[in-house]
Parts: sequence; C-alpha cells; structure tokens
Amino acid sequence: MNISIIGTGYVGLVTGACLAKKGHNVICVDRVDNIVNSINSGRSPIFENHLEELLLEVVGCKLKATSDIKYAVENSEVSIIAVGTPFSEGKIDLEYVKEVAYDIGMILKEKEDYHVVCVKSTVVPTTTDTVVMRILEVASGKRLGDFGLVMNPEFLREGNAVEDFMNPDRIVIGAMDDKSFDVFSKIYKGYFDAPIVKTNPRTAEMVKYTSNALLATLISFSNEIAAISEEIEDIDAVEVLEGVHMDRRLSMNIEGRNIRPDIIKYLKPGRGFGGSCFPKDVKSLITFSEKLGYMPKILKSVIEVNESQAERIILKLKNEIGDIKDKTIAVLGLAFKEGTDDIRESQSIKLIRKLMEEDAVLKCYDPVAVENAKKELGEQKNLEFYNDYESALHNANAAVIMTDWDSILNINIDVFTKLMKNPVIIDGCRMFHEKNLRANDIKYAGIGWRRL
Ligand code: UDX
Repeated sequence: MNISIIGTGYVGLVTGACLAKKGHNVICVDRVDNIVNSINSGRSPIFENHLEELLLEVVGCKLKATSDIKYAVENSEVSIIAVGTPFSEGKIDLEYVKEVAYDIGMILKEKEDYHVVCVKSTVVPTTTDTVVMRILEVASGKRLGDFGLVMNPEFLREGNAVEDFMNPDRIVIGAMDDKSFDVFSKIYKGYFDAPIVKTNPRTAEMVKYTSNALLATLISFSNEIAAISEEIEDIDAVEVLEGVHMDRRLSMNIEGRNIRPDIIKYLKPGRGFGGSCFPKDVKSLITFSEKLGYMPKILKSVIEVNESQAERIILKLKNEIGDIKDKTIAVLGLAFKEGTDDIRESQSIKLIRKLMEEDAVLKCYDPVAVENAKKELGEQKNLEFYNDYESALHNANAAVIMTDWDSILNINIDVFTKLMKNPVIIDGCRMFHEKNLRANDIKYAGIGWRRL
C-alpha cells in the first residue's frame, strides 16, 4: 500500500519505518528540513532503539521523507496523522492535528481516488468524528464516503517502540464506516499476527486513554502498597506485588505461567512514572471527564501519589544522611526511564530541582540524557553532569538511583564502597537488594523496603 505519514516524532517515524519494513511504500512528511534531510540520509533524528538500522534498510527503496505534504497525500491511498498534541492548561492542544487535517482536506479536494485519513495522535474521545471530520469535510468540500476516516491509537513504549510496533498485542481500528475500515485494515492484515479490534473512533480514542490510565494506576497503586509496606519491618513490597501478580486474573497476556518481566514491571514499586504520555494522558482524562460533569476520584489519586514520590525519596535520603545541605548526592539516571534520552516529566529532574532548593551538591549521571538535562536545568551552581557513573559517585555522601539503566544495574558493588565518601544507596528503581549490599557495609533504602 502507498502510505503517507504526517509528523516524524517517535510515533510517526517508527510507524513509517516499520510499515516500510513490512513492504509498504511510505512517504514521511515533516515541515522541518533538517529532519527530512536526516531521514533521507538514513540517520534517525531521534534516539530510539533499532530505528536507525531500520531506516538504513528502508530509506531509498520503501521510505522517503519530504516537507511537501501535497506530494505525499497525492501519492498515497492512506494518510496517517501522527503529529504532537502538546499539553497545556490541563488539556491537549489540537492545533497541529487541526492544521494537518485542514491541509489534507484541501489536497483531497482535487484528488479523485478514495483516500483514508487516520488519526494516530492521542486525542480525547469525539475528536476524530467531530473536529477532524468537520475540518476534512469543509476543506475538501466532500462527504464521508468520498473519503474514509479512522482512529488507530498507538501503544508504543519509548525505547521499545520498534519492537512494540512489530509485535503488537492488539490493533485497534475505530472506523467511521465499513469502507474506511476495509481499506485501512489492509495495512495490517496479513502483515501482523495480532487480533484487530474493529470499533468506532470514540471507543478507539477511549481505549488509548484507558489503557494508559490503567497502567499509571497500577504504578501508583504499587507505590501506595510500597509506602504501607515500608511501615512494617521485614516486608519487601516487590515480593508482595510479585506474589499478587501471579494471580492469573491479573496476567491475561501471560502464556502458561511464564510471567513476562515487562508486565510485572507495572506492579513494581519505584520512583513513579514520567514521560510524554502517562502524566499528560491521565491529566487530560481528568479534565475531559470533569468537563463532562464527572469528577474522577481514582485518577486524581493516581497523580497525587505520583507527585509525592520525589518527596518520599528525599525523606529516605534524610533518614540515612541527615541534613542534605552541602552534601554531595550522586543522581544516577536522568531519563524518565531506561532506553531513551527523553527527560520529559522525568522523576529524576523533579528530584534534582527539589534537592537544589535544599542546597545539595549534585553530581548527575546518565548514559545518554545528559545533554537534554543540561538544556532543561541550565547552568547552575553545584550541579554537574557526567556520562560516566564513576565521576558522579566520586566522594558522594549518597547515591540515588532514578532510572533503571543496565549500566547502573551492572555497577560492581565494590565501586560504591571504593568511590563514595559514605556508601549509601537510595534505590528509586528497586534494582538492588538490601540483603546483597549489607555484606559490603552499604546502607540501602529502596522504595517499598524498610531498612532493618
Ligand atoms: C507509554 C505506554 O506504555 C504506551 O503504550 C503509550 O503508547 C505511550 O505511553 P512510555 O511513556 O514510552 O509508553 O513508557 P512506559 O514504559 O510505559 O513507562 C511509563 C513510565 O512509567 C516511565 O516513567 C516508567 O519508568 C514508569 N514505570 C513503568 C514505573 O514507574 N513502574 C513500572 O513498573 C513501569
């Protein structure tokens, strides 16, 4: 199939590269020339695992990029809108989605063959069948039926996006009518094993929000259980939640009894969630629901628990080393999670800001996110960044683990004792276990674990 994709962020570009790999002809559109040039030379403009190898394979034969949306839409049967929906004042901003819908509509005016427009950007229920639909009709002067419209949410995790796209659990297609569905589903049918859920656009939009809200709820729920467990001696919340998770009612996707580690992660306590999706999506769903007249209770608590995680970590820090003013703290990990250089809504950045307010001396390590963190936090007194953890740990009074990078997990225990002034670890990712560290005279406190 000939497909155009508008927006080359991590969703648009991963979608484009993966569909091209499956054999479709893909034209990616971005208005920034540097991004277009970078894609056309096989270089990924974003850091995403396996994306660059995939681009090198498909660019020039199955995928090309352009800034000319007219050329892209005219030469495709389906256009996928994958532009950002920035979050401001409690809700998502549809400006880019509307602009692109208008541009596509204007091009469809002159286009004779049937064309399906797909909304992939995350939008609140009713956006596709009211806002996008109206813009397309007005701009094209045509009615639904002359063109098709679907909503097809993505479930891609940053850092795992290529793998998630290639091996989806399900494909949700919310179509305005059967013809839209029949044409659009050809993108997936025969190319992917996953079940295709056929529904209407509103339900598809709600599936996406509900999915992220449930995962975020599991994380905050685990963190609440962790906070209770910490009040009791000799309970490890990680073990508690593993025990809970083995219930097959909670493990629907698990084949046999082999529990997939990435699923169990969502019941693992830690420093809380961040990133470009969970905080924004849960907050947007709250605002959307309130506008409809229902005041959500659970979702508000999910945010509240998440926002208190950095404070809880600081409390643990103070329990171990007392006043943190002028103390040197090594912050291990800046990205909002492993496998990405993205620091949006990162719990680590929130923690750093709070520690700076308390006049701590901060030495921060991340294998890939240092540049982004520097841009975000700027030049500050007592704030240094390193690409190697040894420099961050050198002479530190405590180390706080904020991102679950393998490079941190693989630090030899001796390194902490050798390099740090006081070997104290506050583990926001539950990577290490107290029992293993005690023998080395390391003081350890983790979320969901009370120090004996
Ligand atoms: C998420 C959804 O998973 C994806 O389906 C959707 O399309 C976009 O939003 P992403 O934000 O990339 O993807 O990351 P994800 O791996 O889901 O993690 C989100 C946040 O939750 C991260 O900060 C992560 O560290 C945190 N998290 C995850 C936890 O704190 N604990 C966990 O057990 C799991």
